[in-house]
Amino acid sequence: MEQIDIHTDFAVDVLSGLSAKQKFLSSKYFYDEKGSKIFQDIMQMPEYYLTDCELEIFKNSQQEILDAFSENNASFDLVELGAGDGIKTKILLSHFLSQKAKFKYSPIDISEDSVVNLVAELNHDLPELKVNGLIGDYFDLMKKIIPNGYTKKIILVLGSNIGNYNEQMSLEFLGKLKDVLYPQDMLFIGFDMKKDPDVILKAYNDPHGHTTAFNLNLLQRINDELNADFNLENFYHKEEYNPQTGTASSFLISKIEQHITINEFSTTIQFTKGERIFMEISQKYDLDIINELALKSGFEVVRNFFDERLYFTNSLWKLKS
Ligand code: AVJ
Repeated sequence: MEQIDIHTDFAVDVLSGLSAKQKFLSSKYFYDEKGSKIFQDIMQMPEYYLTDCELEIFKNSQQEILDAFSENNASFDLVELGAGDGIKTKILLSHFLSQKAKFKYSPIDISEDSVVNLVAELNHDLPELKVNGLIGDYFDLMKKIIPNGYTKKIILVLGSNIGNYNEQMSLEFLGKLKDVLYPQDMLFIGFDMKKDPDVILKAYNDPHGHTTAFNLNLLQRINDELNADFNLENFYHKEEYNPQTGTASSFLISKIEQHITINEFSTTIQFTKGERIFMEISQKYDLDIINELALKSGFEVVRNFFDERLYFTNSLWKLKS
């Protein structure tokens, strides 16, 4: 008998996801070097309004945001969970520097390439900035962000990154975050708001094919790392949105009946025509959901910053007193 050698989380998760009755893969595996690049293309498409909205909020409210982070120019540590390419954050960082704010910046990301590139870019563009990049799953790194004396921490979770978590996982994540914070620390967290379903669907069923490439890249990664034989041309991508729940769901759909061999496990996976692999959710919110999430996880909303169209909010939270 062939020995099954499951040596990484990736292998374990892929095998369990593709063996399930309703096949699924985890979105945290999108962000290899290629996937992180494709995600940058996604963020730059006009249809992916989230980027423009958050940039607009940062540009229009940079001083108010600084005032909210730091009263009387008190020092603070900015810790960004899921920093990615950090383009949006740079707006805030340069404003804070121009105002002589006393702060350090620690970007954390699961993508090693993103962190390495971001730190290099910041060292070059903002040489006076104090940067400390960390690589990993931010659930795992949570404990590392804690003990740094009494400096106030501001945790950034931008770009509606939390939208990849369902309610239960969001509460678990926020609860764990709460447990490593001190009373004066704050959370600055981005939420994509519920809106016209067509606007949302266009951001994910994009005409440029970046979102399709982003999803197919995970199959390519399975081919490369687990020695599988997915033919990417035999799958297409589709996004669905449920306006009641605010959940956008992403699927890869098999165009034909086919079987895939994953040599790493000496396993074949059967697909019927039209069978779907559930890839990720991108949750959309309203103010009631946001308040409820905050309260249920031990926080309270201090204030919300919006773009003109009210498509997006950056919500500032403190620990519930
Ligand atoms: C990184 C979770 C915010 O859900 O909008 C974008 C990921 N996937 N297009 C999102 C994503 C496809 C993105 N987040």
